[in-house]
Amino acid sequence: MIERIADRYRRFAQVEAQGQSPLYEMLALHVAQAPEALRFLMRLPRERQQPNLLFAAMRLAAGKPASPCDFDQALREHADAIAEIMLSRTTQTNEPGRCASLLPALAQIDGPLALIEVGASAGLCLLFDAYGYDWDRQRLAAPGCSGAIAPVFNCEASDATPLPLRHPEIVWRAGLDLNPLNVFDNADVAWLEHLVWPEHESRLARLRAAISLAKRNPPRIERGDLRRDLPDLIAEAPAKATVVVFHTAVLSYIPSRADRNDFATMMNRAGVVWLSNEAPHIFPQFAASAGPARNGMFLLAANGSPIAWTGPHGQSVRWIVDTSRIP
Ligand SMILES: C[S@@+](CC[C@H](N)C(=O)[O-])C[C@H]1O[C@@H](n2cnc3c(N)ncnc32)[C@H](O)[C@@H]1O
Repeated sequence: MIERIADRYRRFAQVEAQGQSPLYEMLALHVAQAPEALRFLMRLPRERQQPNLLFAAMRLAAGKPASPCDFDQALREHADAIAEIMLSRTTQTNEPGRCASLLPALAQIDGPLALIEVGASAGLCLLFDAYGYDWDRQRLAAPGCSGAIAPVFNCEASDATPLPLRHPEIVWRAGLDLNPLNVFDNADVAWLEHLVWPEHESRLARLRAAISLAKRNPPRIERGDLRRDLPDLIAEAPAKATVVVFHTAVLSYIPSRADRNDFATMMNRAGVVWLSNEAPHIFPQFAASAGPARNGMFLLAANGSPIAWTGPHGQSVRWIVDTSRIP
């Protein structure tokens, strides 16, 4: 058991943190060979032993450790508080920058749109029409009518990516989440902020800007399970709009492949446009026709057909097919 946890932390250091967060890489390698830290993790349920959860909980409870020595001291002095956070919270990172890699697909769909995001967290990815975008060869300014300063998301787009000239017309929107986070709740906001990796300062700044914007016009998020509660929400969408159900970085929380495939079947029969933006192993049957998997990238698929590879935080979009309208 202890060796399995150590392996998980080593893998996290080498695959996820390397090149992304020198601090998390160093701490994860340290945990992998620190008996006290491994014993602490062993007392938690397996699904609560994640590196991301431990490091965010420690930063929230005890501040950011600068070294393995700091980490050991923080764990010794704040073990109960850290464990309590790890048991009561999950990794609900809300990355509004993902809107920049999804918007080209959304713009291909005939509107007006009724948007439903499953696994919405605080719902920041539902606000496509409130943000500014910079794809380098094309920009889209934020509408700027909310009074708050909108974040502008930079995203590197391949030449084949069709870039929108205007924001989509969204006439209705709602989110669904097992545990909706509330932008008016300081504890929820602090948790969202601590989920951003320590060196990612520009992501933190744009998260804060997106939260300020959401406070002026908070999206509706219902509590529920995407496997059970989606049909009721779809039934509420206005009949005159095209219903788009989307999710990004969510289906990895459904560990059973059979459950994920049942969800795919449900979506294909729902009479909606379904956009899935997930790691390619989540739906390998879609990835099969997407060409070679790109390291660390998500696969964006519309109704099960691959359309683009996207950077996991929305930092890039590489169009695969020569699509005109979706579906
Ligand atoms: C990593 S966050 C991603 C949030 C958002 N989609 C984004 O890209 O910023 C995953 C979210 O999925 C939610 N989630 C996980 N399993 C779920 C389920 N079965 N039904 C509804 N939401 C779920 C979690 O609570 C969490 O808020």
